[in-house]
Amino acid sequence: MKLRLACATLLLAVAGAGSSWAEEAAPAARADAAKGAEKAGQICVACHGVNGVSMIPQNPSLAGQGADYIVKQLYNFKGLPKKDQARNNPIMAAQAAMLSDDDMRNLGAYYASQKPRILAARNKDTVALGQQIYRAGIADRGVAACAGCHGATGAGVPSQYPRLGGQHAEYTEAQMKAWRSGERANDPNAMMRSVAARLTDREIAAVADYIAGLH
Ligand code: HEC
Ligand code: HEC
Repeated sequence: MKLRLACATLLLAVAGAGSSWAEEAAPAARADAAKGAEKAGQICVACHGVNGVSMIPQNPSLAGQGADYIVKQLYNFKGLPKKDQARNNPIMAAQAAMLSDDDMRNLGAYYASQKPRILAARNKDTVALGQQIYRAGIADRGVAACAGCHGATGAGVPSQYPRLGGQHAEYTEAQMKAWRSGERANDPNAMMRSVAARLTDREIAAVADYIAGLH
């Protein structure tokens, strides 16, 4: 609980640092999910699937993801608020560059309102290890439990921690490795980089596989 509060405070501190996405991400009140649906059907559907359920393991599902998290990622793909906190991905940089602030907010509201699809863990040899890391972390190596931030069912905490449950294992694994190498560095206060840095390839694969079936 203490950790959760500390994290929330940090996120607020980062969000308050005078960036434009912070203002956009805060009140999603004016977002228009119907307009978001229209744009998603014209562009995003090609890669993120119908209603945000991706059929391509490298492309994340967006259905049920928190609206504020989606908006934040789209700003980060644009290289905002700061280059060193950007999320570098050439495919999404090109997509995000074409979106206005309103578009991003509308898309966030639309995808957040869609029903997530839950996949299944595929590797029975590692599912217990994955579950253990997710629920309890690895105490003697200082790996915090994923559940402590992302929730026991992987649903996330809207506006603080993204939904993970049901995501493609390939995508989750790639993100964990990107954080471990520092290639992805848009996590406030290095919350994810410090977790990923302490995990082996096998542990990352195990927890990613477990998360695919988590709900
Ligand atoms: C050509 C394929 C393609 C198109 C079109 C596309 N995306 Fe993506 N998107 C990707 C890929 C690939 C990733 C994963 C990037 C990475 O590995 O960091 C991604 C990641 C994302 C993420 C991050 C999700 C997360 O869980 O962190 C968001 C948000 C997103 N896309 C939104 C959109 C929206 C909104 C549109 C439409 C305007 C769109 N994308 C169009 C391929 C695409
Ligand atoms: C201290 C809190 C905290 C803990 C513990 C934590 N995370 Fe995270 N995680 C975050 C935050 C914050 C983000 C969003 C970063 C951003 O803004 O891009 C995130 C994002 C992610 C993402 C990216 C989701 C996406 O759609 O791209 C994955 C995957 C992830 N975490 C997996 C894990 C796993 C696996 C564990 C346990 C081994 C874990 N996290 C533990 C805070 C945490």
